[in-house]
Amino acid sequence: MLKIAASLLSADFSRLGEEVKNAEKEGVDFIHWDIMDGHFVPNITFGPAVIQSLRDKTKLPFNAHLMIEKPYNFIEKFAEVGSDIVSVHAEACDHLQHTVRDIKNLGVKVGVALNPATPLNVIEYVLDDIDLILIMTVNPGFGGQEFIPAVMPKVQEARQMVEARGLNIDIGVDGGINEKTAPLAVKAGANVLTIGFAIYGREPKLSIQKLKDSLR
Ligand code: DX5
Ligand code: ZN
Repeated sequence: MLKIAASLLSADFSRLGEEVKNAEKEGVDFIHWDIMDGHFVPNITFGPAVIQSLRDKTKLPFNAHLMIEKPYNFIEKFAEVGSDIVSVHAEACDHLQHTVRDIKNLGVKVGVALNPATPLNVIEYVLDDIDLILIMTVNPGFGGQEFIPAVMPKVQEARQMVEARGLNIDIGVDGGINEKTAPLAVKAGANVLTIGFAIYGREPKLSIQKLKDSLR
């Protein structure tokens, strides 16, 4: 099933509570929190306290997309403040299997994100414990960047790999998704579209319902 995750990175940070509530009304399926540390990516956003303060504003599931170095040190904290999915970058984990297993043991879902240049096979041997493969369609760090179409074969391969093994894993794309690029990602096999700039950063803003209807 197609799901839309709203990334609040381009939202008005002074009104995050309202933005989260509006996202729910508009038919978004997840809230996607872009956590940046100024090391793994050249930008800094928010930490667990911000997620905690917004947890009771919506019933939508939260995905914490950790764009941070040494994410292992923070998985417990992000699970504790109410993340339903904790997503780590394969590139940032010294021991990905260990990190994935421990996220699972915390009782939350596991996402693994891959930068555009990272091959899919880095997750081959941890696939049984993953709930979401988050394929970056931009280099992480900023909202509103241009979609990288060269990543689409990786989405196709991910879809084939998941189906060949009969696994129930969501395949997400993140970065540069809008009315034009969403159909390409869905055609390649993505079923979770993470969208920030097109919802919060531009006028006219993207209509979630129209997008969903057009992709049905
Ligand atoms: C990029 C972030 C994305 C981003 C969403 O570092 O991980 O979640 O904000 O992309 P846009 O803003 O292009 O929709
Ligand atoms: Zn993200």
